[in-house]
Amino acid sequence: MQTPEKTIPAAPEYESGAAYIDGAFMPVIQAAIPVLHGGYRRSDVTYDVVGVWDGNFFRLDDHIARFRASIRALHMEPAESDAEIIEILHRLVALAGLRSAYVSMECLRGAPKPGLPRHPANCRSYLSCHAIPWQSVATHEMFERGMHLMISSVLRIPPESFDPTVKNFHWGDLTRSMFEAKAAGADYSVLLDSDGNITEGPGFNVFCIRDSVVVCPARGALKGITQKSVLELCDELGLKSEVRDITAEEFRNADEIFTCTTAGGVMPASRIDGRRLNNDRPGPISTRLKDLFWSKRTEGWHASPVRYELAAKVASCPDPS
Ligand SMILES: Cc1ncc(COP(=O)(O)O)c(C=O)c1O
Repeated sequence: MQTPEKTIPAAPEYESGAAYIDGAFMPVIQAAIPVLHGGYRRSDVTYDVVGVWDGNFFRLDDHIARFRASIRALHMEPAESDAEIIEILHRLVALAGLRSAYVSMECLRGAPKPGLPRHPANCRSYLSCHAIPWQSVATHEMFERGMHLMISSVLRIPPESFDPTVKNFHWGDLTRSMFEAKAAGADYSVLLDSDGNITEGPGFNVFCIRDSVVVCPARGALKGITQKSVLELCDELGLKSEVRDITAEEFRNADEIFTCTTAGGVMPASRIDGRRLNNDRPGPISTRLKDLFWSKRTEGWHASPVRYELAAKVASCPDPS
C-alpha cells in the first residue's frame, strides 16, 4: 500500500502542513495553543481525525457528526457551523497541497474570562484544525509481518469516568500501556476494562475472528468510523459479524486479530501476548478485509473530493486579532 504522491504545489511555508486556529489560517509549524488554556492544562478538548486518500476525504460527514456529538457532550460551543468546519478542512488540505493527509479537528476550552471563577463554564471554546501528510499507526514492516500485540495490565479509563465515545486526549492509560508493550517487545497494547473485557488500543479499535465470525467489543471504546466500515465490509463479503463483549481469553485464543483506525485502515496482527497466529503472518480474513477496504477507497467509497480550488481563498480570511 503506497501512499499516493503529493501532486498539488503548495506555498513553501505550507509544505509541512496547514492549520486553522480560532479564525486564522497559518502554516502548521506556527500553530500553537496558549499554555493557560484548558485545552492544554486540563486536556479539556475533544477531537476527530478524518483521512484523505488520493484526493478524497473518507466518510467526512460521519466524522463531522461524531465531532459535533463530542462537542455537545463536553458543553462546548465553537463559533463555526458544521458546513464551515467542512470548508475549513477542505481549505487546509488544499493549502498544504496534499493528495493524502491526516486531518485533525479539535475543539478546546480557553482560559476563564478575567475576574470569573475558574470553572470551565466560564471559558469560551474554539476550534483548532490541521492537515499534515498522511501518517499510519502501523509501519510498513508491521503491515508485512503483522502487528505484535499484548494485552496490557493497565485498565482503560472506565466509561463511568470519561465516556470513550467522546474522542479525547485523556491518554494517560494508553500511553502507560504503550511503555509496557515496548518493554515486552510488542508493537502495541490492547486494554481491558474492569470486567476483564477487551476495549481498544492506543489509537485503534480491535477485532478478533474465530471460526470465520468477525467480532468487536460492544462497549468501553470509541465508536470507530473504520470499525463501522469494517462491519459494512463483513456484510458485503457475507461474513458473520458480532458486536459483543470479548474476554481476554477469547481474544488470546482467536484465529485472527486485527486493529483498525483512520490512520492506517485495517491492520492485521500476527502475535498476541507472544502467541503466533497464522504462522506469524497476517491472517487470510483480515487480509481480505484490508484489501477490500483499500480497493473500495480507491474506487471512491464514501468519498468527498477535496476542493483544491479553496487554497486561493485564504488571503481573504479575516484576522481575528
Ligand atoms: C482510542 C481510539 N480508539 C479507536 C480509534 C479508531 O477510530 P476511527 O476508526 O474513527 O479513526 C481511535 C482513532 O484515533 C482512537 O484514538
